[in-house]
Amino acid sequence: MAAGAAVASATALLVLAAAAAAVSGLQAINVTTMAFEEGYAPLFGQDNILRSADDRTVSLLLDRSTGSGFISSSMYQHGFFSASIKLPSDYTAGVVVAFYTSNGDVFEKRHDELDFEFLGNIRGKPWRVQTNLYGNGSVSRGREERYVLPFDPTTEFHRYSILWTAAAVAFYVDDVPVREVRRSAAMGGDFPSKPMSLYATVWDASTWATSGGRYRVNYRYGPFVASFTDLALLGCRADDDPIRMVAGGGPRRGCAAAEAALRASDLAVMTVEKQQAMRRFREQNMVYSYCYDTWRYPVAPPECDVVESERRRFKDSGHLRFALRRRGPRRSRGGGAGRAAAARAAASRAAVDLAAAAKKQAADM
Ligand SMILES: *[C@@H]1O[C@H](CO)[C@@H](O)[C@H](O)[C@H]1NC(C)=O
Ligand SMILES: *[C@@H]1O[C@H](CO)[C@@H](O)[C@H](O)[C@H]1NC(C)=O
Repeated sequence: MAAGAAVASATALLVLAAAAAAVSGLQAINVTTMAFEEGYAPLFGQDNILRSADDRTVSLLLDRSTGSGFISSSMYQHGFFSASIKLPSDYTAGVVVAFYTSNGDVFEKRHDELDFEFLGNIRGKPWRVQTNLYGNGSVSRGREERYVLPFDPTTEFHRYSILWTAAAVAFYVDDVPVREVRRSAAMGGDFPSKPMSLYATVWDASTWATSGGRYRVNYRYGPFVASFTDLALLGCRADDDPIRMVAGGGPRRGCAAAEAALRASDLAVMTVEKQQAMRRFREQNMVYSYCYDTWRYPVAPPECDVVESERRRFKDSGHLRFALRRRGPRRSRGGGAGRAAAARAAASRAAVDLAAAAKKQAADM
């Protein structure tokens, strides 16, 4: 498929999605936003973190010297983690922007994680978005899904949100839920359960991000700038003592009320309209699902809702049969260990000593 055709189909998707949003009547996400200082702190690459004068927009740069990232000042036991993000434009092969929750620096061997990962691309080809989750160190059981976006994420800000309650996880793009994972007994510890921090990072993932490492970051097109605004964090702050909470201490007083409020809020109520919008988004934009990847999972993991009509659209590799985009990224069948090792090496190159950042880079390709 020529690049022109890819652009044309992206335009078609945009029109479809706009029509869908218009008829769905989804309620707009309405949460209180905050200044950077109120809820976040630099994580790495301090010189590459640029804050606006009003402190409500923060830009993360990746250049030859380093990537950069920030972290929430608190950990949260369940919550709503959200930002409007504008991704770097033009040639972005090898660049990864990540917006995720994790507790990998506190619980190294049994960490939890919820991911939005944005994978850069060569000129004329769109960014792809991946969602994923890990629970209790389930790094050998990636649960990746990938989508193309029904808009150009480099020209305007769009909101990306992660909702995490005791009952379910939902990922939102603007007002549309794009994925929901309900907690079930069968998932066991694979459902994230311990307090997590919010992270946002931009970094060089030359070895895997674009067509399995075929296209590396080209710094002639840098610096690569990802901007974040409309920053929002809701949930129960748990940073007093996340380890005590998990070791049988139970949630802090007050977390039960915060949890109840979150679950009762519009954000957490999956209305029929939202379900329909989610189904449409997935039909039109999902290009990979671990649930249909029988090479990796001969038996779909327990939370998978395998729909036969949907399954037929995907190959046994989990990739869309009639690719919206040509050439899916190369899969790694090596499990978590090799990826984690590569990730750790990359992290030390960037002088990032946080295990959480390394875990990021262990995302399955
Ligand atoms: C958003 O929420 C605030 C406070 O809860 C409320 O005052 C405001 O009217 C809401 N805005 C919209 C557009 O619903
Ligand atoms: C989490 O993993 C640890 C060891 O890795 C195990 O002992 C524990 O039972 C697991 N917890 C859950 C909820 O599965």
